[in-house]
Amino acid sequence: METSFVLLASLIVAIGSLATHSEARAFFVFGDSLVDNGNNNYLATTARADSPPYGIDYPTRQPTGRFSNGLNLPDILSEQLGTESPLPYLSPKLKGQNLLVGANFASAGIGILNDTGFQFLNVIRMYRQLQYFEQYQQQVSKLIGPAQTNQLVNQAVVLITVGGNDFVNNYYLVPFSSRSRQFSLPDYILFVLSEYEKLLMRLYELGARRVLVTGTGPMGCVPAELAMRSRTGSCDPELQRAAGLYNPQLNQLLSALNSDIGANVFIAVNTERMNNDFISDPRAYGFVTSKVACCGQGPFNGLGLCTPLSNLCPNRSLYAFWDPFHPSERANRFIVQQIMTGSNLYMNPMNLSSILAMDSWA
Ligand SMILES: *[C@@H]1O[C@H](CO)[C@@H](O)[C@H](O)[C@H]1NC(C)=O
Ligand SMILES: *[C@@H]1O[C@H](CO)[C@@H](O)[C@H](O)[C@H]1NC(C)=O
Ligand SMILES: *[C@@H]1O[C@H](CO)[C@@H](O)[C@H](O)[C@H]1NC(C)=O
Repeated sequence: METSFVLLASLIVAIGSLATHSEARAFFVFGDSLVDNGNNNYLATTARADSPPYGIDYPTRQPTGRFSNGLNLPDILSEQLGTESPLPYLSPKLKGQNLLVGANFASAGIGILNDTGFQFLNVIRMYRQLQYFEQYQQQVSKLIGPAQTNQLVNQAVVLITVGGNDFVNNYYLVPFSSRSRQFSLPDYILFVLSEYEKLLMRLYELGARRVLVTGTGPMGCVPAELAMRSRTGSCDPELQRAAGLYNPQLNQLLSALNSDIGANVFIAVNTERMNNDFISDPRAYGFVTSKVACCGQGPFNGLGLCTPLSNLCPNRSLYAFWDPFHPSERANRFIVQQIMTGSNLYMNPMNLSSILAMDSWA
């Protein structure tokens, strides 16, 4: 009697975990260093995070290629989705059952435009990330067949984080950059968004149906820009103007695409506002500063790269910025919290918990 009860109980537990597994949605990630989880480790590029102290707070305490002291944005989103973090597309471990979790195609240094990040040499530009997504689907088809593969892709959550580099590593990289001589800021933004529209529609053609699209952060406030462009520590007005013009227009573009398609495929994530919350009042979020990076050197620890020789703060949780450009794990957690449950000011037309509740294929 007792044995059969135990058997039954463990059977129920087993069925339960099977069910959760089959309900778990695949997760695909595209974009730049804010979401790269190791692809650049496999490339000949200077845009890399594969030496200490990167990863100092990661579960293994080792650098992984994530531009974070610990977990990055996709990792924390995966926690919320109840899945493992998808592997980098270039990882040799991405095969067999691991493919069904999803994949991360992001590559540090890239932008919407092909010429963005040219100084980083061999990185995976956006058009190439989308080609890899096609290749990925062919691999998965061999495993589970084309119909199941389409379903896996259609039901997936997709995150795309790109665009900041088109400003900081292109238009504003140097004074009189070729793009800034070619375009006024408003015209450049129209051009970047027209290119972004093509990429987003390609993602849709490739089967993506729920795509979280982040805007840029408050680019003038990151420690790197404070070090290069601000004496007093106030955010650089020109980069803030760029973010202030770009983000609302991105939002409009996404709404227009959704009306054309007739469904809420693209979800605007207001990362400018999410970052501004802790940047403008770091103490309210338990940070001692939002101006000084934890790891770096020079004013605001904002110059150069984070390396083993850099200044390093003892408690990474007290810093909004881990390195001159990238939020700390703790800051990323505040961002993910708003992605999950934020109001329409943060998530347009809806937050991720609402999406997960709506999409049910049982
Ligand atoms: C980027 O380069 C690829 C390959 O050369 C090309 O197919 C694509 O159209 C280019 N995209 C832009 C926006 O120039
Ligand atoms: C680091 O700061 C966090 C947040 O204030 C705190 O909870 C934690 O105990 C601190 N860790 C150490 C090692 O002091
Ligand atoms: C998510 O968004 C919806 C719609 O805006 C809102 O009603 C809800 O309070 C938000 N939070 C959660 C946890 O759903």
